[in-house]
Amino acid sequence: MTTTDQTTRFPDDFVWGAATAAYQIEGAAHEDGRGESIWDRFSHTPGKTLNGDTGDVACDHYHRWRDDIALMQALGLRAYRFSIAWPRIMPNGRGALNPAGLDFYDRLVDGLLAAGITPWATLYHWDLPQALEDAGGWPNRATAEAFAAYVDAVTRRLGDRVRYWITLNEPWCSAFLGYHIGHHAPGRTSFRDALAAAHTLLLAHGLAVPIIRANSRGARVGITLNPAQVYAVSPEAEDQAAAWRYDGYFNRWFLDPLYGRGYPEDMLALYGADAPAASPAELATIAAPTDFLGVNYYAPSFIRHDPGSAFFAIGHQRRDDLDYTAMDWAVYPQGLTDLLQRLQRDYPVGELYVTENGAAYDDAPPRDGVVADPERTRYYRLHLNACRQAIAAGVPLKGYFAWSLMDNFEWAFGYTKRFGIVYVDYTTQQRMIKASGHWYRQTIAANALPEQS
Ligand code: FCB
Repeated sequence: MTTTDQTTRFPDDFVWGAATAAYQIEGAAHEDGRGESIWDRFSHTPGKTLNGDTGDVACDHYHRWRDDIALMQALGLRAYRFSIAWPRIMPNGRGALNPAGLDFYDRLVDGLLAAGITPWATLYHWDLPQALEDAGGWPNRATAEAFAAYVDAVTRRLGDRVRYWITLNEPWCSAFLGYHIGHHAPGRTSFRDALAAAHTLLLAHGLAVPIIRANSRGARVGITLNPAQVYAVSPEAEDQAAAWRYDGYFNRWFLDPLYGRGYPEDMLALYGADAPAASPAELATIAAPTDFLGVNYYAPSFIRHDPGSAFFAIGHQRRDDLDYTAMDWAVYPQGLTDLLQRLQRDYPVGELYVTENGAAYDDAPPRDGVVADPERTRYYRLHLNACRQAIAAGVPLKGYFAWSLMDNFEWAFGYTKRFGIVYVDYTTQQRMIKASGHWYRQTIAANALPEQS
């Protein structure tokens, strides 16, 4: 008998991991034949990122990956979710392969396996080869075929050792932040283009699934979304309707076609001529059966009817009664439980994994070998407890990946936002496990939430 209350324990086979993405950590932007990505172009365009920060060097993980695997071992991670940089594999987006790029991930995967850490590979985490953007980018359906060819090359090489594949990370961000809102690469601002991009991304996912299965026998294949947990701010009909529109825009627009329902009728009516034409054959491709759904969750959305909002009268509301992180995102763990339950209730998701969850806070640099980040530890404790409650309610949640393994390039925010459970000093590239990382290590070792935390 242990003193640990049974209810704080996680299932014995629960997957404990941490996540990163290529452009955010690798650096070595011009090495070994890597081609230019939309994030290189965007971050080097004045005014696009805070302080003009770029991923040129980032955490220099391309050279320090051995040390970083050692860090993962020190944390006791069982799994590591990383992404593969398309422009390292195919510098022009299609055509000639770059062997040095494939070799890098080959070594990384072997290193992880030797360390007893299960690799989870994401095939696209936002770094589209610039050559493909120049040919129309994600709104151009030919980009889906280019993705399929890239996925074929990667999974032929790594498919014997990588058993967990994620096709896309957060296609909502690629499409709407990249092509409508313009805060992310490539920084375009057309709603119609964003809808076209979302359609190509879904097609790319659907084309990739059978290719991965053919090249990586017995592998588990899924996609990672960032579904919004939407709450209407009141029971008033107008607020409820605005919340449902937001759900349609953010969630159902992706989930419905992925699970074979096509695009939601109410949103097609709302979008009118802006909506992409989708043939039955394309919808069948998009609905390729998957094994799991990856869920990235940070904060919920509190939605109200706002007649002054040009975006379908959808308004966001701040909740003064809640804590906010350095991203100005509300801390609301109940949102994660509710979201996981909703996904299981409304869609045949198979297994669920939280593929990202975490928080940015303004960490002070290490003092006497300690990075004190009690707010982040609290965030993890609350959200892991939310996971446990979902599991207790019958949700098939099989694992959890902390975002992020280490501080890194936070897209348009550059290096100003620290999400790591490991602190990175960007001048020396020294790493140090934060207090939250030590807490996470104990949690993994106990397979339970520590009682005193
Ligand atoms: C997610 C991204 C990830 C990271 C976190 C904070 O949307 O997938 O790369 O930037 O947000």
